[in-house]
Amino acid sequence: MSDVVARFTELSEDRLTIAVPKGALYDDAAARLRSAGVEVPRDPGRRLTVTTPDGSRVVFLRPTDVPAYVEFGAADCGIVGADVLWETERSVCELADLGFGACRLVVAGRRDDRFHEGAQLPTFLRVATKFERTAEAFFAERDVPVQIIKLHGSVELSPLVGLADLIVDLVATGNTLREHDLVVVNEIASSTARFVVNPIRFRVKYAAITALLARLEMGVPV
Ligand code: PRP
Repeated sequence: MSDVVARFTELSEDRLTIAVPKGALYDDAAARLRSAGVEVPRDPGRRLTVTTPDGSRVVFLRPTDVPAYVEFGAADCGIVGADVLWETERSVCELADLGFGACRLVVAGRRDDRFHEGAQLPTFLRVATKFERTAEAFFAERDVPVQIIKLHGSVELSPLVGLADLIVDLVATGNTLREHDLVVVNEIASSTARFVVNPIRFRVKYAAITALLARLEMGVPV
């Protein structure tokens, strides 16, 4: 079979490749997929991909990599947090809010600094975050000059050791902030899990994708 024919055959099939984020969203995403008839494992372990009994292929990804797989059509569709979509440069089409994985993006600081009670911010304000674009936009809209320090994790550490005055980070249960005596200074946005598609694949596999979405929207996470 030529490459072109093989590609066409793949595109014309009703089988979907679904991008699923590992990490905080995984348990709810997997439960919702199972209730939609896609038998994903409870724990993917070190597996990168599985083919489920219904013929779907599921790829397990770092959350921030889901948009790239969907934009380039390596996955037809996927589940990803809105927080990832705010930051990504990748182009995907958001079809639905799946409702689970709720968390808030906040500005937070040390309780002792009293920024949450209106204490004056330093002139040279340093803000540590994984959410560089969103944080930049938030402070720019308020005409507050900041130096953004891009981090990749454990952001709550940065104000405790003098790297930053404030952080912009996600809060779900609030435990991480509480455990480090940090408090919310501003709320920026709320995030939940979204169902995203590659727009071309959506046209080609319209029936399969809309059927999956309908089942996902009916499902209740276990
Ligand atoms: C996220 C977020 C906070 C934490 C918030 O981190 O960046 O650190 O979860 O959750 P909580 O309010 O329920 O405590 P993640 O687990 O992704 O790890 P990371 O810090 O290494 O990015």
